[in-house]
Parts: sequence; C-alpha cells; structure tokens
Amino acid sequence: MDAVGVIGGTGLAALVDGETSEHATPFGTALVTSGELAGRPVAFLARHGDGHTIPPHRINARANAWALADLGVRAVVSTAAVGSLRAEFPTQSWAIPDQLLDRTWGRGDTFYDASLVRHLPFAEPFCPDLRRIAVEALPDAAPRATVAVIQGPRFSTRAEASLLRDSGADLVNMTLCPEVALAAELGMGTVTLCLVTDTDTGHVEDDPDAVTAELVFRRLAEARPRVLASLERIVAAIPADYSPRELIDGEAIAHVLGLPVVR
Ligand code: ADE
Repeated sequence: MDAVGVIGGTGLAALVDGETSEHATPFGTALVTSGELAGRPVAFLARHGDGHTIPPHRINARANAWALADLGVRAVVSTAAVGSLRAEFPTQSWAIPDQLLDRTWGRGDTFYDASLVRHLPFAEPFCPDLRRIAVEALPDAAPRATVAVIQGPRFSTRAEASLLRDSGADLVNMTLCPEVALAAELGMGTVTLCLVTDTDTGHVEDDPDAVTAELVFRRLAEARPRVLASLERIVAAIPADYSPRELIDGEAIAHVLGLPVVR
C-alpha cells in the first residue's frame, strides 16, 4: 500500500510516531518520519522543522515534495493555520479549501525551470477526489474556501487584507504556495485541512482575535487533538488504490530531469 504523505503545519511537528531520517534530494534534504496513522503507512513532514525553526519563505518545498514522491506517495494530506478574512469563517473553525491565490515571490516554486518547458494546468489546485473524501469525513468543516498565500513572515496590513478580500480570498496563509503546485508537478494530489486561528487584521474594532504569532500558536496547541483525529479520519478514508488525476506529463519530466517517477 502506498504511504500517504502528511505535512504538519505550524505547531504540528511530531504528529506521527515513527522513524525520522534525512531524505536526500537534488534540492537538499527533507526530514521525513515514516510511521502509521489510522493503520496506514504515512510519510510525515513538519513544514517548519522540528522546533519551528524554518520561516515560511525559507521552507524547502521542492526537497519536501521530491522526498514524498520518491517514497512513493501519491496522496498528500496537509494541515495549515490560516487567518480569516470574512465573518463566515469564524476562528477555531475548519475549512477544506478549493482555491489558492498566490502572492508569494522568490521561492523555489517549480521543477520545470531547466531544459524541459511544461505548464501545469492548475485550475483545480487541490485534488477533487481527496477534497470530497475530506469533506465527507469532516462535516463540520467549510467545504470550500479561497486561500490567499502571502510571502510573510510578517502579517498583512489592513490595506493588504482588504485587497485580498476584494480579490475573492476568504482565508490567508503563508505556506500553501508553492507546496501544492510542486506536489501536482510530481503527480501527487493534495488536500489541506485549514484551521482558522485568527481574524487577520481584525473583523471588528479592537478585535481580540486579530492575529499575533502567540495567538496562532495557542490556538494550534489547543486544536492539536482535534487535528490529529481529523487527519486520521481523512487518511483512513483514502482508498488503497487512490490515484491522482494526471495533472501533467510526469513521465516526460522524469525522463528529462531525472525526477522520481510516481507510479
Ligand atoms: N497563518 C495564520 N494566521 C495567519 C494570518 N493572519 N496571515 C497569514 N498567515 C497566517
């Protein structure tokens, strides 16, 4: 059975017990824990490192995606802390996003920057099949949302938050880009469980839920048991023969650039 890739966001390191080892890739090493969740083999990565030492703009997303693909992962289930830009997404609620608005820059955001030119179809950034599984497993979660991904590490100004909201974003985060696209480039499907930790610049005057790093960490620590239980429900519901929709010509890139072939 293929291992399911699990990527734990802020405050969710060491989510899975198992053996942790450095997985070498052409882009650097990724620290992967091989363990079990809901009786399934999983390959777990802490996005920000073990002791939250890697800021969003320094995450080696290419090494992480490569390592998971190299381990035979086809389905990636991730968690992410997000700020809410709208009252319909209250703090401490969940959402399973269907869209991304990429506002990041200067990150290693593609495997197609050498001799092979390929353009990834990305109208549906998340895997529709994995999303359906997650929505059914977690009826309390908002079944769709648009996440704007900002560069960070600072949070948004009020003007920036307004701009994101006016552009259609519901939630804001710093890490889902380029992670989701890189997984797709390697033929892996992704679903993300977003936990709304704060109201970003605030939904009301003097909003006690306006974002601070301390608030984000506190909310995530409180939510940890729920996150783990939710991840288990999603992982358990992924069929053993799950196969992501073909997003790009994986064999061509494997051949030309020597990438791992995702079978
Ligand atoms: N992660 C959690 N809350 C956030 C916010 N308000 N902005 C960006 N990333 C976040």
